[in-house]
Amino acid sequence: MIERLAIIGVGLIGGSLARALRGAGMVEEVIGCGRSAENLELAFDLGVIDGCTRDPGVAVKDADMVLLAVPLGAMRPIFERIKGALRTDAVVTDAGSVKGSVVADAAAVFGTVPPWFVPGHPIAGTERSGVAASFPELYHNRRVILTPLPQTDPEATARVRSMWQAVGAEVSEMDVAHHDEVLAATSHLPHMLAFGLVDALARMQGTAENFRYAAGGFRDFTRIASSSPIMWRDICIANREALSAMLGRFGDEMADLAATIRRGDGDHLLEIFTRAKAARDRYVDGVEGGLAHKADE
Ligand SMILES: NC(=O)c1ccc[n+]([C@@H]2O[C@H](COP(=O)([O-])OP(=O)(O)OC[C@H]3O[C@@H](n4cnc5c(N)ncnc54)[C@H](OP(=O)(O)O)[C@@H]3O)[C@@H](O)[C@H]2O)c1
Repeated sequence: MIERLAIIGVGLIGGSLARALRGAGMVEEVIGCGRSAENLELAFDLGVIDGCTRDPGVAVKDADMVLLAVPLGAMRPIFERIKGALRTDAVVTDAGSVKGSVVADAAAVFGTVPPWFVPGHPIAGTERSGVAASFPELYHNRRVILTPLPQTDPEATARVRSMWQAVGAEVSEMDVAHHDEVLAATSHLPHMLAFGLVDALARMQGTAENFRYAAGGFRDFTRIASSSPIMWRDICIANREALSAMLGRFGDEMADLAATIRRGDGDHLLEIFTRAKAARDRYVDGVEGGLAHKADE
């Protein structure tokens, strides 16, 4: 049971965790923190939080569990604001989509990554933002990856693991760098393709007509291009090495596909599409896809 949970960033991710923990009867009190009074007032009116402040240092006072659920670019200033304000037995975790940058931010502020900080990433989300988009079932049967470091207190990791399990998530652990490489391929690259495709079409002549005839496949493929631009700017910058390498590799694949189409090589096209269909059927929609296919990230 969490006595007082401080959520810094009461948006889709933070708001959904608060709602889910409340629903599970796993938290006594939730304090929300953000920049805008409007979002916090809405969170209060929706019953997501019991109290709020715009000062992270005040929000974490007396909290035994703290979740940072702000865009990646805001993590470091938040660490600075909560430094020295935490309860001695508090556990801090985050939901950032890239782990290397958050770990570096914590190390820069505290001198080393503190044992009570457990980096985390729920592989769940939608293209919507803000507390109004939050819902308690978001983490049901979704994966959460924790990336504890050698110095992380195992007891702190166990408390964060229990919190996510209480809201229906399956928790696994991964090395920080490995997490960022895997997510560059499976989440960050697809978001770049969706943003890039929609932007390219939007800048072409006959934009309205292009979109008017967009069919269901286009809608499915591009839904994630409605995600928060600020959040995705921060993810790209935070994971720039792995993501730019992945985009480079993918660019080569696309160039190869374009050349195959140009020379009318049907056999090679069939080979590519058959291999892709088999992989998707097996790993994404099939049993080996496990839980991951249900989530955006
Ligand atoms: N959306 C997803 O699919 C998803 C999935 C997994 C992980 N994540 C990660 O989870 C984190 C939150 O994402 P989200 O989707 O919940 O975003 P969101 O819905 O936009 O919520 C972010 C919240 O943070 C607050 N905020 C923004 N900048 C802040 C700052 N400088 N100081 C204090 N509060 C600030 C915002 O409120 P104010 O504007 O009022 O400050 C907002 O309520 C991000 O790090 C993201 O990478 C997202």
